[in-house]
Amino acid sequence: MSIDGNRRVLSGMRPTGRLHLGHYHGVLKNWVELQHEYQCFFFVADWHALTTGYENTSGIADSAFDIVVDWLSVGVNPGEATIFVQSRVPEHAELHLLLSMITPLSWLERVPTYKDQQEKLKENDLSTYGFLGYPLLQAADILVYKAGNVPVGEDQVAHIEMAREVARRFNFLYGREEGFEEKAEQAARKMGKKNASLYAGIRRAFQEEGDEEALLKGRALLSSQQNISLSDRQRLMGYLEGGGKVILPEPQALLTKDSKMPGLDGEKMSKSYNNTIGLREMPEEVTRKLRTMPTDPARVRRTDPGDPTKCPVWKYHEIYSSEDVKSWAKEGCVTAGIGCLDCKQPVIDSVLKEQAPIRERSEEFLGDRDAVFAIIDEGCETARDVARETLDDVRHAMKFLPR
Ligand code: TRP
Ligand code: SF4
Repeated sequence: MSIDGNRRVLSGMRPTGRLHLGHYHGVLKNWVELQHEYQCFFFVADWHALTTGYENTSGIADSAFDIVVDWLSVGVNPGEATIFVQSRVPEHAELHLLLSMITPLSWLERVPTYKDQQEKLKENDLSTYGFLGYPLLQAADILVYKAGNVPVGEDQVAHIEMAREVARRFNFLYGREEGFEEKAEQAARKMGKKNASLYAGIRRAFQEEGDEEALLKGRALLSSQQNISLSDRQRLMGYLEGGGKVILPEPQALLTKDSKMPGLDGEKMSKSYNNTIGLREMPEEVTRKLRTMPTDPARVRRTDPGDPTKCPVWKYHEIYSSEDVKSWAKEGCVTAGIGCLDCKQPVIDSVLKEQAPIRERSEEFLGDRDAVFAIIDEGCETARDVARETLDDVRHAMKFLPR
């Protein structure tokens, strides 16, 4: 069943240290765009940090704080997006537990990251229940907000797929809520007299005459309603289309293109390759890193000509430089007309220019930690309100003793 008008986006990041320019170009710029168009929830996945390393938890809180500062500094706006921390919203855990009861072990075992990570992270103890269940925790993270869209990289697509399967299974097992018609009628009244009767007419036109146009009108009407909850909206959508209420809508992956930002060695920028430029690293350090970054190995002496396509610096020009600067660099390189330090200077200038406002904002936030905590508190409250509502639906559907 289509959940039209599900404009909710959710994404999370593990708190594993400072963010770098790879995160900025690959993920964060995208988040900043999305927040204008969607109702965004961005969270620090601090419980997830335990799934691959439970022994030392001393850095988690600081990392979580730093990550939020990074988000704020690049322009994630708490007025538009909800910023929160997973461990502060215990509903994630409750939903995770309930979903664990209906999730076949084989689904978890066949998630590709399960075996991959065990191979890769040999020094960590990954033989825990938590590590096996981590994609399910991720499913709970998403489903607890009934998010329709989840911006993630390629490596996470299998997890979103599993979240879809779990949602489908849940809806199949506990799907249709009791008293659905009555609740839908009640929800319709919440839209006001005029809209309620408009909705009723549209519904009749679709259900009795199969008028597809009416269906579209109905969806548009529901999407435009500001004062009904998501839960009611889904009831009304189901009532309109003739199904029940979908309790946990299936999310879809919003695939973020792989970051074009290369690391200092020309490989993908990644902490594990030790080739990063920190998002708010000090200008002197950034300058030093760029000045010492490797170039075309054929240019041993200043007089040796080079080939930009064999040089990591060139990749930075491709991201940061104008056509003029690029042709100057290319020409100077192949003719040995410029030295590598000359060639790097415009890149250094551009990177510093990009970072300056980010660093400046981060200094403001670091100088007013209480303000950051207040943003987190408020985000957690907002997130919890939504998560509580979902859990009410879930408990009700599973027929637990009502609260
Ligand atoms: N697993 C994600 C990662 O390692 C982080 C994450 C946790 C997440 N829960 C999520 C991402 C929910 C998107 C939605 O990058
Ligand atoms: Fe690389 Fe520029 Fe040196 Fe050529 S001149 S090798 S492109 S840094």
